[in-house]
Amino acid sequence: MIKIAFYDAKEYDKPSFERYGAAQEMQFRFLEIRLNEDTVELARGCEAVCVFVNDTVNAAVIDRLYRCGVKLIALRSAGYNNVDVAAAFGKVHVVHVPAYSPYAVAEHAIALLLTSVRRIHKAYNRTREFNFSLNGLTGFDFHGKTVGVVGTGKIGRIFIDICRGFGMKIIAYDPFPATNGGIDYVPLDELLERADVISLHCPLTEQTRHMIDAAAIGRMKKGVVLVNTSRGGLIDAEALLEGIKARKIGAACLDVYEEESDVFFEDRSGHILNDDLLSRLISMPNVIVTSHQAFLTKEALNNIAETTVRNILSYFRNDGICDNELCYRCGSIEQCKQDRKERCF
Ligand code: NAI
Repeated sequence: MIKIAFYDAKEYDKPSFERYGAAQEMQFRFLEIRLNEDTVELARGCEAVCVFVNDTVNAAVIDRLYRCGVKLIALRSAGYNNVDVAAAFGKVHVVHVPAYSPYAVAEHAIALLLTSVRRIHKAYNRTREFNFSLNGLTGFDFHGKTVGVVGTGKIGRIFIDICRGFGMKIIAYDPFPATNGGIDYVPLDELLERADVISLHCPLTEQTRHMIDAAAIGRMKKGVVLVNTSRGGLIDAEALLEGIKARKIGAACLDVYEEESDVFFEDRSGHILNDDLLSRLISMPNVIVTSHQAFLTKEALNNIAETTVRNILSYFRNDGICDNELCYRCGSIEQCKQDRKERCF
């Protein structure tokens, strides 16, 4: 029996992990708290930990996991910016779920966009109160508008396909452009200047942190709609608020927020929210916030559980080689994945 400490467990996680895990003789210890330096000891006696986007997996936590005898960190997410992969190298192996449903995220981005532009959230509240006035609900046609897509990986490209269905013009920026797909790549500055809608689909790295800052917002068209279903840190939230107050940003659709780990995923109703910036953003009539919900479909949850269980099995039962392992041995995670013929260390 492989024992796994499952941090930040939510009700919606358990059924799929219990189903796939039981079939493979895995025992998940579901913990509602997040992994950090104070909770790491709860993993003692387990061979692996399973973590999500807001667990803290820094060098100190990794060191403690290593000393507790944990051999594997199994991320049940694609993004791994919360894991110090360099610190894990040589100590604890790290696996992730590279893709579970890019459709879920791309479709959520579109849902936010349509809701915001066509004022569906306002209309829903009005009609529930029998207020059938249309004043203030004017949207705009997507057809013929220019959408700028930042990051044309799995999610960005599905988002592009959907936007093509609307008859939108697509421009994109990616330092590693796709050679197929007929995407019109432009420099980032040009994208910011030309797009009516900008959607972010790139990872959070040191290079991309605050890529949308005051200067970037300054380049954008007045009335631009900004969509972020990627990572909160891509946007300087204070600059965004200033852009909204200056009437430069027409609308913001945010599934992620830089400081989300302190608030998202939990019921905070009835509490005083200490994050003034988030409170102010949420209070704006042209901002929609969802709580890192883009991944949350039945298909995605099943795929996450299935791939995570397979990753854990590859490590403990097979030869230890797992295609979804992250490591720093080659200096490039992508390169390492391509060349991998044995365990990373
Ligand atoms: P992917 O790895 O398939 O694509 C990422 C793309 O971003 C690649 O084409 C890469 O070349 C590009 N990129 C890298 N640096 C860039 C830069 N500086 N500027 C522009 N593009 C850059 O990743 P995928 O699956 O499409 O996911 C994208 C992001 O979506 C993830 O990094 C993650 O942060 C986020 N995500 C959010 C979820 C949610 O529930 N809100 C769920 C899953 C992923």
